[in-house]
Amino acid sequence: MTIPALMQKKKSGQKIVMLTAYDYPLGRLLEQSEVDIVLVGDSLANVVLGYSDTLPVSLDDMLHHTRAVTRAVKSIPVIIDMPFLSYQVSIEEAVRNAGRCLKEAKATGVKVEGAGKFRLQTIERMVDAGIPVMGHIGLTPQSINILGTYSTQGKTASAALKLIKDAAMLEDAGAFSIVLENIPSQVSKEISIRLQIPTIGIGAGPECDGQVLVTYDLLGYTGGYHPWFVRKYADLDSVIESAVKNFCEDVKKGNFPSEAETRNLPEGEKTGFLDAIGKHGDKQE
Ligand code: KIV
Repeated sequence: MTIPALMQKKKSGQKIVMLTAYDYPLGRLLEQSEVDIVLVGDSLANVVLGYSDTLPVSLDDMLHHTRAVTRAVKSIPVIIDMPFLSYQVSIEEAVRNAGRCLKEAKATGVKVEGAGKFRLQTIERMVDAGIPVMGHIGLTPQSINILGTYSTQGKTASAALKLIKDAAMLEDAGAFSIVLENIPSQVSKEISIRLQIPTIGIGAGPECDGQVLVTYDLLGYTGGYHPWFVRKYADLDSVIESAVKNFCEDVKKGNFPSEAETRNLPEGEKTGFLDAIGKHGDKQE
C-alpha cells in the first residue's frame, strides 16, 4: 500500500481502513491485517499517556512511539500526527519538524489539523519538500480551548459550507487525504463527492471514502470510555481484568509457576550444587 494506491482506492470505490497504533505489538498485528494506513495519532496523549487532552504530548513523544510502530509496520503507510505547537509557530519550523518525522521515525507522512491560510501555506511547503500531508478538519482536538467542546462540528449551514471550502483548499494545497472528525453525514458526503483525494471519517457517517477509529476504543481497552461513534469489537478491559485476577489468585495459592513453568538443575549437577552450598546430606532432595 502506497499513498498513490490510496488515491486509486477512492477512484475504484474501495473503502480505506485506517487504525491507530502507538507501539510495536499492535503495529505487528496491523502489519499482518487488511488495514490500509496506520496512524500514530496524538490521541497517544489521552489513550496511552493519561492526559486529559492532546495538547501536552511532545514531538519527541510522538517520534518515540512512531519508531516503535515503524519497526513493525513495513508495508503500510504510517502517518504521524504532528502534535500541538510542532507546526503552528512558523512554516520553517513546521517543515523541519515534519522532516524529522520521516527521517528519525520512518513515518511515510504527517497529519496536521486545521485549514487556515497559514496552515495551507505550511502544507504546500511540506508537500514541496516531499512530505505527504493528511489534513484533519471538523472536530480538531488540538483546538479544544477555542472550540470549548468535543461535540459535533459543522451543524449550521454556514459552518457546513466552511468545512466544504476548507476541504477543497486542503486538496488544492496538496494534502493526499483528509480526516473528517465528528461532522454531520450530509456534510462529509458532499466533501467526499467534491474531492479527488480520499476522505477518512471518524464520527462522520458512512459516506466517507474510508473510516478510522482509535484501535484501543474498538478493542474495548479504554477503562470504560466509550464515544458514541465507536463500535466495540472486543472487551479487552474485561479480558485483562480477569487474566490479572487469575494470575494473582494462582500466585497467592502457590499454583504458579507449575513444574512445566520451572527449570531445575540438570541431574548431573545436583550433587555438586548441594556440595557447593554445604547442604549435601540434608533432606533437601
Ligand atoms: O489522534 C488520533 O487518533 C486522530 C484520529 C482520531 C483521527 O487524530
